[in-house]
Amino acid sequence: MTTSEQTPSMLELMDRRSVLHPFTHVSDYAAGQTPAPFIVRSGSGIRVRDAAGRELIDGFSGLYCVNVGYGQERIVSAMTEQARQMPFFHVFAGATHEPAIELAEKLLQISGPSMKRVFFGLSGSDANETQVKLVWYTNNVRGFPKKKKIIARRRGYHGATIMTGSLTGLPAYHQGFDLVTDVVRHTTAPDGFWSGGLGPEAFARKCADDLEKLILLEGPETVGGFIAEPMIGAGGAVPPPAGYWAAMQEVLKRYDILLMIDEVVTGFGRVGYMLGSERWGIQPDLVTLAKGLTSGYAPLSAVLVGEKVWDALQLGAAKHGMFGHGFTYTAHPLGAAAASANIEIIESDNLCENARTVGEALLASLKRRFEGEPLVGDVRGEGLFCAVEFIAEGTPQRHLPSSLKFAARVSALARDQQLLLSRTMPFGDIIGLAPPLTLSKADAEEIVDRLYKAYRTALDELTPAQRSGEIA
Ligand SMILES: Cc1ncc(COP(=O)(O)O)c(C=O)c1O
Repeated sequence: MTTSEQTPSMLELMDRRSVLHPFTHVSDYAAGQTPAPFIVRSGSGIRVRDAAGRELIDGFSGLYCVNVGYGQERIVSAMTEQARQMPFFHVFAGATHEPAIELAEKLLQISGPSMKRVFFGLSGSDANETQVKLVWYTNNVRGFPKKKKIIARRRGYHGATIMTGSLTGLPAYHQGFDLVTDVVRHTTAPDGFWSGGLGPEAFARKCADDLEKLILLEGPETVGGFIAEPMIGAGGAVPPPAGYWAAMQEVLKRYDILLMIDEVVTGFGRVGYMLGSERWGIQPDLVTLAKGLTSGYAPLSAVLVGEKVWDALQLGAAKHGMFGHGFTYTAHPLGAAAASANIEIIESDNLCENARTVGEALLASLKRRFEGEPLVGDVRGEGLFCAVEFIAEGTPQRHLPSSLKFAARVSALARDQQLLLSRTMPFGDIIGLAPPLTLSKADAEEIVDRLYKAYRTALDELTPAQRSGEIA
């Protein structure tokens, strides 16, 4: 019997006894003490279908990956054709292939003249790991062997490997792993909603001052890089306050610190531009791309290498010989073919523009429906990446007790409304929305309707004491 002939409950049983799932309470899951898993079977456009045949709107594009939506035949046929012609070849020492060349040229065209080379990997984590190695290598070559610490931000997410898990500024992802601590520091999360009432400009200034204080405390001669997402992603979908990036870049320049930008979520139209760096006037030294690079049709990531690092790599070649870094699947032909077809769709179907206009409509509708409602603290977004944040009633501004799991409850109830949301975000009670960029204004209204119904049901389940955060 194949798995597609199994009943959903049999599949659930098999999954619980065989798969080790990421970011999951493993013993509760194994013991069947968590809600039934969502067993997804197929997708088309902005919708996915589960193993029982129910169709849901995917409000989070998988894990904010599927930017062009499901069932894009142009990507499927590019990958099929590539698999038939040449499913694999490496790009080590003297070998290369057309899909890698075509994609690298395209990515350099998108990123502009400040980027000089493209290095390919498979995931956001390995690309950020590559960035760290490049910063360390660069500073060794430049004769600054102590300049190695990397400053990240609280509530940043950069991956789950040993180094990138450490850069990730969400403590829940550190527990029990003995990650790297000696070369990683974290600075202020640019979340204006929790700024204690500072206006955007004053808060942006404070973030830059906090960064400078940390650099001076550590010693500028020990700080090699600063890594950040253009807007906070997994940490709560928060656009930066006005003036943030100009102020931060000024500080980094002053202390000769490389700017490592993580565009895993913000790239490829998500915030209404091909890159978030373009949206916020960021001039990075290194850029990580993943997720929307292939819209998740194949695993592929890329690091764009800016001039300073490229110059150091050339000097390093004279000193160390070959560049001793890479993976078997670097520039995998199927991933590269998927990415080129995906980018062609984003461009030809004007998906950046659609993300801007439909994103504006989605945010306006969320604000109309949610602002002023009980427990709603903040409604925000950029392009097609929006969030509703829930807090306790009353003053001072504070979180709901985590034991209530309010956002998780809203998310579960949304599924009854046939709306699929993110795994809940790991800070406070935040519902993130990141639907495919092919979304129409009517789809956006439908999402808000379904989310609102889920929220009202979850709200009605709470007692007044729970709403005010007095009883968990
Ligand atoms: C901003 C950001 N960087 C890096 C990663 C890690 O990517 P991956 O899970 O492909 O390793 C993620 C994943 O969600 C992310 O959101």
